[in-house]
Amino acid sequence: MPKDNTKIRKCLFPAAGYGTRFLPATKAIPKEMLPILTKPLLQYGVEEAREAGIDTMAIVTGRGKRAIEDHFDRSYELEHQINGTSKELLMKEIRDIVKNCTITYTRQVEMKGLGHAILTGQTLVGDEPFAVILADDLCDNDGEAVLTQMVKLYEKYRCSIVAVEEIPLEDSNKYGIVAGFEEEDSVLRVTNMVEKPESKDAPSNLAIIGRYILTPDIFDILEDTKPGKGGEIQITDALLTQAKQGGVIAYKFKGKRFDCGGVDGFVEATNFFYNKTKE
Ligand code: UTP
Repeated sequence: MPKDNTKIRKCLFPAAGYGTRFLPATKAIPKEMLPILTKPLLQYGVEEAREAGIDTMAIVTGRGKRAIEDHFDRSYELEHQINGTSKELLMKEIRDIVKNCTITYTRQVEMKGLGHAILTGQTLVGDEPFAVILADDLCDNDGEAVLTQMVKLYEKYRCSIVAVEEIPLEDSNKYGIVAGFEEEDSVLRVTNMVEKPESKDAPSNLAIIGRYILTPDIFDILEDTKPGKGGEIQITDALLTQAKQGGVIAYKFKGKRFDCGGVDGFVEATNFFYNKTKE
């Protein structure tokens, strides 16, 4: 049967980074397994992907990340132990994921940057458009989740999409920054992107956050992308090549995003989600 290249069926989760901003916690625990309340960051990401209609999760792991595989698996002894108790409810969501999703893994052997991690995931994704979630960017919405909004936009534009938000210009050196012209409300056709520019060199105050939809030609481009900022292979550099061909849009998403890769954002997210449970 021919592949339907209009539907986003897979979500890639680059999760091989060292998480140095969270040392020593991340010495033996993957950053993506740090919990906001009782749920690991990566599980929030997987739930967001499912909400967007995706049931294949492709996870790029690395050394010391085995807890991720154990989390997305059955745990017979534990399940037997809590069987018939109120605690079973706490496992409902993860059991549902394990039962209904296909979860695939590959390892990034050398941590050469986000672009390289995405290229490593090619073996899991194949030749079709796919979503990318960086689980340490945790998003929350009253309405549709960010990835759901983006999947809908993909159906209209059929090109790569980056989620962006306005940031204070002095923070531009922490993000990929985009510039472009307006296609419609909240949607820009990207004409320029720069990875972590100083504020004086930033083409705008629109920063890419950890949600992407990528067309599969990105893999060939990544193969040819030389290490950029910080000596890492940057997805922003590869996306610029696509953008020059008119193939990238930036989407000012609706919702709130927390940078849980750093302590401030992590604590903010914890308080936010805690208060939400109390409402
Ligand atoms: P980050 O730069 O936020 O993650 O990369 P990091 O390198 O783990 O964190 P710090 O800066 O040292 O604290 C964004 C995402 O890309 C993944 C990370 O796991 C994270 O989800 N990543 C990054 C990889 O999978 N491989 C890499 O080589 C680099």
